[in-house]
This record gives sequence, structure tokens and C-alpha cells, in this order.
Amino acid sequence: MNREDFPILAQTIYGKYPLVYLDNGATTQKPRCVVEAMSNEYYNVNANVHRGVHFLSQAATALHEESRETVRRFIGAGKTSEIIFTRGTTESINLVASCFTQAFMHKGDEVIISQMEHHSNIVSWQLVQARTGIRLRVIPMTDDGCLCMEEYEKLFNERTRLVSVTHVSNVLGTINPAREIISIAHRHDVPVLVDGAQSAPHFAVDVQELDCDFFAFSGHKTYGPTGIGVLYGKEDWLDRMPPYMGGGDMIKTVSFEKTTFNTLPYKFEAGTPDYVASTGLAAALDYLTAIGMERIEQHERDLTRYAISRMQELEGMHIFGPLGEHIGEHDAVISFEAKPLGASESTPYIHHLDMGTLLDRLGIAVRTGHHCAEPLMRRLGVEGTCRASFGLYNTREDIDRLVDGIRRIQGMF
Ligand code: ALA
Repeated sequence: MNREDFPILAQTIYGKYPLVYLDNGATTQKPRCVVEAMSNEYYNVNANVHRGVHFLSQAATALHEESRETVRRFIGAGKTSEIIFTRGTTESINLVASCFTQAFMHKGDEVIISQMEHHSNIVSWQLVQARTGIRLRVIPMTDDGCLCMEEYEKLFNERTRLVSVTHVSNVLGTINPAREIISIAHRHDVPVLVDGAQSAPHFAVDVQELDCDFFAFSGHKTYGPTGIGVLYGKEDWLDRMPPYMGGGDMIKTVSFEKTTFNTLPYKFEAGTPDYVASTGLAAALDYLTAIGMERIEQHERDLTRYAISRMQELEGMHIFGPLGEHIGEHDAVISFEAKPLGASESTPYIHHLDMGTLLDRLGIAVRTGHHCAEPLMRRLGVEGTCRASFGLYNTREDIDRLVDGIRRIQGMF
């Protein structure tokens, strides 16, 4: 789909193999319109935003604020004041961990996360835990990579203050039942932060329909530039949280005795924002909207099913995450390990690094390792996996190349 919009995909790797890019979970490639929107801003508009009376500053400010409106539309938020630009999902989660805890939590209060969180949604909480004495509770997972919803409900008590969970696992591809997670939390009067890093690029998200209290996602995983991300928060929560960082833009008045803070969303946006990246992000989101998120979702789901069924034809193949009757909960990420051809039950799997390195030699880019999810790796009983993750431009031919590559590598060991 729309491959010609992504010039990088046309290249040949090691002068021999057309690139098969299957590392979209780590970052997506950028369509021409994103790069052009950003270079146009640098060439023709560049000036600092919210600070100048001059023409260029007004024009750059207008672009930056239009981008905020584009983000609002893309995730179905009610107000632009609820859209905070950050550097990415990680910063968005750190912001909530720091400011929410400061405003609403005391020693012994609890945050519920899950077994399949990215380090961003574990370590951010551990940092505040060390300062404040809050506690982490963890939703367990079934062997096929789904959250144990009954156990989740049992984790609530009078000390529970927040639930913070991933929408889609970056390792297993599991699409978590966000709406159910949120409605259970709300029954206990507990707000929910959804890590949307791996959902926003793949299917339509409507934060009002989900009724999540916070939602975080990254520009660079959503076909936009690096260095920009978004935190959506319900106004009522954001209003009652203290600022994250001090500096320009986030203040109303400053004296040596007392500072008053700006209104939302600027209260959380200290310093010169990456206004060129916000333009790039808006171009990316407009691009996705023009294709249609439903179309993208359908295309990637078809690819995922096709890939799983082709990979399952291979002997000695182990695919992680929801399969069989749960395959509908499996998004565009496939973690796997494979044994050498003719292996017995006791033969170890080919090391993920070897598999990834050899696939690269065939022009196929996948990710290897723990995928910033070490506690999940421990739960799966592995040190790492090989991960293929899909984007809108991937094709069945890409999957065929992957499957042929894996088979060839299996024969080398
Ligand atoms: N979080 C990114 C990934 O899953 C980098 O690859």
C-alpha cells in the first residue's frame, strides 16, 4: 500500500537484496509529504513560536497550533488544551508518573501495570517509587500472551490510584481489551493511562470513546519525525497536576518570590517546543487519515494472519503471542524463535541475534533482543526473541521473503 511514497524502501541492501523493512515496531519510515512539510518549514517559515510579534513567528505559531488540532482530531480528543506535545511516549509516561504521583499519591498508594509493559511503563514508576514509596502491582498474563482479566480485577483495593497499561504489546502484538480495562478501573474510581505507542499507528483510536484518562503515543512510530510525541490527558486531571519542567512557555508570571503557571496545554510544555516536528507529525497523521485507518488496520491484520500461517508451515517454529482462537487479538507484531532444520525436541532454538543478523544479510530488517521488556522475557522464559513488525507499506511478498529467509537460515545450522 502506497509504497512509492516512501523513497527509502526502494533501496537495495548490501548491493544485492531489495530492502524488506519489518522493524516498524521500533520506528516507521517517513512518507515524502512528512519530510517535505518539515523542510518547507525550515526553508520558509522557521521562527520561534509563541514568542514573536513578527510575521514568521506568527506563521510558525499558527502551524504549530494547527498541528495540535490535527492531533486532537486524529485521536478524537475533545479539546486542544488536552493535547500536550512531548518528546515521545516515554516522556509522556514519565510526565504522568512524576506529576500525577506528586498531586495524588502518597507512600503505600498503588499503580497497576501489566506483565507485558515496555520498560518506559515500568521504570518511570520505579523512579517515583524510590522517591515516594508508592507500590507497583502487576496484572499477570496467560501463556498465550493475554492479560488475566480476573486477576486484574482482584488487584484493586483502597490504595489503588492509577492503572497504566499498554494498548498493544510491542513484543507479542496482543491487543489488550482497553475499553474493558478502563471501565473496570472506573468502577473503582481509578483513572487509566493507555500506552498507545503500538496502537496509534495501526488502528483508529478515539480517546473519548475509550474514555481513557491519559493516552500516550510517539510521532516516529506513526510515520512522523523522531523527537516528538503526544500526551493526551483529560483536562480535569491535567489541571490538578503540577508542571513537569520549569522554563519558558509554561509560566504566566515569574518573580523571585513566586511563579504562576500558564494554562493548559502550555503548563506542561517548558522550553522551545519542536515546532518543526509537530508540523511533520501533523503531515503524517493527515497522510494516515487520507489513506484511512480502517484500511490500514485491515491491510495489516491480513498481513499478520498471512505471516502467521506461512510461518507456522515451517518446522521448529515457535510464535509468541495470541494464536488460534485468539488470533483476532494479534496485531502487526510477530515475535518468534526457530530451530535448525531436522532438530529434535531437545535442540535449542537458533539464537535470536544469529537469526536477526543472518536475515539482515538477506536484506530483511527485523528486531532482536528483549525489546525493552525484560520482565516479559522472563515470563516467556527466554532471553530475547526475533521480531517482525509490519507497517502500511508491507506486502505479502515481504512476508514470503521473510519465510524463505528463515527457512534458509534454519538449513545453515
Ligand atoms: N519501543 C520500540 C520497540 O519496541 C523501540 O522496538
